[in-house]
Amino acid sequence: MTTLHPLDPLSADEISQAVALAKSHPDLNPNVAFNAVQLHEPAKAIVHSFTAGDTITRRAFLIVLDKPTSRTFELIINLTENKVETLTHIPGVKPSIMDDEFDPAEQAIKENPEFQAALAKRGITDFDLVSVDTWAPGYYGDPAEDEYRLCRGVPYINTVKGDNFYARPVENLLVLLDLNTMQVVRIDDHGPLEVPEEPADFRHDLLTQPDRTDIRPLDIVQPEGVSFEVDGWQIKWQKWQFRISFNYREGLVLHQVGYDDGRDGQSNVRPILYRASLAEMTVPYGDPGVSHYRKNAFDAGEYGLGMLANSLTLGCDCLGEIHYFDGDLVRPNGEVNTIKNAICLHEEDYSILWKHVDLRAGKTEVRRSRRLVISFIATVGNYEYGFYWNFYQDGNLQLDVKLTGILQTGAYEPGTETPFGAPLNNQLYAPNHQHFFCVRMDTAVDGDQNSVVETDTVADPMGPTNPHGNAFYGRSTVFKSELEAQRLIDPFKARYWSIVNPNKQNKVGRPTGYKIVAGENCLPFAQPGSWIHKRAGYMFKHLWVTPFDADELYPGGRYPYQSPGPGTPATDGLPEWTAADRPIENSDLVVWYVMGHNHLPRLEDWPVMPTAQMGFLLKPSGFFDQSPALDVPPSQAKHCC
Ligand code: CO
Repeated sequence: MTTLHPLDPLSADEISQAVALAKSHPDLNPNVAFNAVQLHEPAKAIVHSFTAGDTITRRAFLIVLDKPTSRTFELIINLTENKVETLTHIPGVKPSIMDDEFDPAEQAIKENPEFQAALAKRGITDFDLVSVDTWAPGYYGDPAEDEYRLCRGVPYINTVKGDNFYARPVENLLVLLDLNTMQVVRIDDHGPLEVPEEPADFRHDLLTQPDRTDIRPLDIVQPEGVSFEVDGWQIKWQKWQFRISFNYREGLVLHQVGYDDGRDGQSNVRPILYRASLAEMTVPYGDPGVSHYRKNAFDAGEYGLGMLANSLTLGCDCLGEIHYFDGDLVRPNGEVNTIKNAICLHEEDYSILWKHVDLRAGKTEVRRSRRLVISFIATVGNYEYGFYWNFYQDGNLQLDVKLTGILQTGAYEPGTETPFGAPLNNQLYAPNHQHFFCVRMDTAVDGDQNSVVETDTVADPMGPTNPHGNAFYGRSTVFKSELEAQRLIDPFKARYWSIVNPNKQNKVGRPTGYKIVAGENCLPFAQPGSWIHKRAGYMFKHLWVTPFDADELYPGGRYPYQSPGPGTPATDGLPEWTAADRPIENSDLVVWYVMGHNHLPRLEDWPVMPTAQMGFLLKPSGFFDQSPALDVPPSQAKHCC
């Protein structure tokens, strides 16, 4: 793919060029590990003034780790001029776990004699049947956490190779391994507990129960082709247009999302979002047990949702006429890692868009709704996360998160009980946990200057203005500064937040806007004073608004891996940035929406969890002067009756 636009992600050639320049830099060990090589996004002014065919200066942003000295560096490389522009040592940080570290870490743990002795104490001697998940260890003030870049091995036993080892956790046995040297640092053995017996397979070839036999084919056919157009990394679908990119950390990123309202018969693309992505997520577990209290992975910042993206399969992950995009990332050794079919783009029928039966005229008008879906799925250890951006014909834009995969598990003494998890059988339980997702939206509703407004619905007290007691109204407050804009959902007030452009009016003289309609949400149950409260402070508000700052991308900090939390520019996140209470009214701003999924596991979540779905909606609210869905033509009746 040729580079056509300043926001195009780095091509494979550009990644290789950046790697070569870094390796030959005199101040860097040529064997540094490449944690990240991605586009250094140009300044907004450059992107705004770009027109097709302009010369582009391409820059790469790199994070590299010199493992022998445990030093982390960031580089900015000018690819156009083929030179390293900046090389900066970032003290005291540890880059996220890299994709070539999982297997060697597991192998090193499995081969460790002390670990094998601990298994033998439990009667486990076939080490081929041991699987070890390698977790980001978090931070708990353990001196080893300051000294090493660790992973924490959590062992399981397979019954046969390749079956569901999560059915058979080895409780109370944990291994700390230094990822930089692949040496075991410490074995924490808190005493043997019997490994649960009952298998729990879900792989089709291992299942013994018969398939259901009453499913007939359901095909999606688009005989005249799709209704979207793809040009490089730009996508146009009906009146929507946007660009995408892909990186190791956020995975899919939306850029320059706009809607062509075709006003006065002319193309009139109105911006809505400059950039949107899943910027961080954290999964805090609620079990105090030694094997579980440290489970609170930052799946974007400590692992990388793009790095863990699946190669999607037609007809399985995605159905119908699909356009796939590959994702080009770097391997730690500097090779290009192309994830084939990392991003899926397709259209779906979505029930009815609008309908009315005019009984007097004897006429029915009904329109089918169709949506454009762009998505990717990441496998983070036991869980799968699908991120689906849905574009609708009525101007709605939605993020759907789909959670599936395997529960975390623990073993317990038969006959005992724990309130901190749900039993799956008489030896196995699944710890309580939560999933928090933070979506960063650099908004651009009709331009970069936006404000954020909170609207609560208020009952008018009974009295002269409300003699019948039925009256209610929306009460809106414009947020002036960051601290005012740290908010929680309130379903009892039907609360919503709008991103408005105070400089643009709709036909009734109000600012044009889009509102955030919250879906499922909750708050973390982690206590003030807990490490995770400190490290993932962003989780404790559902809404944050900040003035745009190109360096403020990750709400839990740039380097959350094994970080003690805020206190340095590299680890500060939303709570620290917003402490300055910067003004946010009528300015170039970033809106952060945080949503939580509370998970007290069910029996039905086992052995593989049927997809749980959550998300939120961006809904036009005075953005259009009337329903934008009026021009959707009626469908041809084909299969009725
Ligand atoms: Co869950």
